[in-house]
Amino acid sequence: MMAATVNGSLRRVSPGWIYLAGLIPLAWIVWLGLSNGLGVDPVKEIEHRLGKVALWFLMGGLAITPARRFFGLNLIRYRRAIGLIAFFYLCLHLTAWVVLDMTLLWEQALRDLVKRPYLYLGLTGFAALIPLALTSNNASVRKLGRNWRRLHWLVYPAVGFGVIHYLMQMKVVTAEGWAWAAAFTALMVARVAARVFPTRR
Ligand code: HEM
Repeated sequence: MMAATVNGSLRRVSPGWIYLAGLIPLAWIVWLGLSNGLGVDPVKEIEHRLGKVALWFLMGGLAITPARRFFGLNLIRYRRAIGLIAFFYLCLHLTAWVVLDMTLLWEQALRDLVKRPYLYLGLTGFAALIPLALTSNNASVRKLGRNWRRLHWLVYPAVGFGVIHYLMQMKVVTAEGWAWAAAFTALMVARVAARVFPTRR
């Protein structure tokens, strides 16, 4: 009942609005930057905030299929926008590290990579998302056919690497960190459950 109401109201909300709404966290970070609201280490704060926004969108994208299966919420037409916004924030997250943190000193960046293995994991997750972002357009969906779904399966390991990267960059894993890990695990269980107990159509 509730799901039907939400689905009905969403009929008027085009995915374009999601792209626009996706810019709000960025605007907020820029605003904080301009108003001295980023604390004593603004570079770290920007890096962290961008990573966290990306994580929200990545997990939100993964939650769309289970939301339909378990709650009848139909948000499928927003999935591409959510995925692309996540990718956009990851590009900014990576750029913040290269430009603001490493100040484009490539040797230092390489040393940082060797010193902090969680950076490899982040990079691996990011790299796995590149082909997905590149094939998110309608032409690629048509051209790839069944292989499109196979390719987009990569989103699970990619987000998995992202979550491990997030946990590893903490000195001690916080309750929030465990909550993200639990949420990711729950989404994966939902995915496996959908495979094992397919719904009748
Ligand atoms: C799927 C890919 C990725 C995800 C989901 C992700 C997410 C995150 C999150 C959530 C944080 C911590 C935010 C917080 O504590 O509030 C973080 C920190 C960080 N990430 Fe990523 N990230 C990814 C890829 C990358 C890549 C490719 C790089 C650069 C090579 C990178 C560099 C960093 C750095 C430098 C930090 C801060 C670590 C510190 O403070 O010591 N991340 N990331």
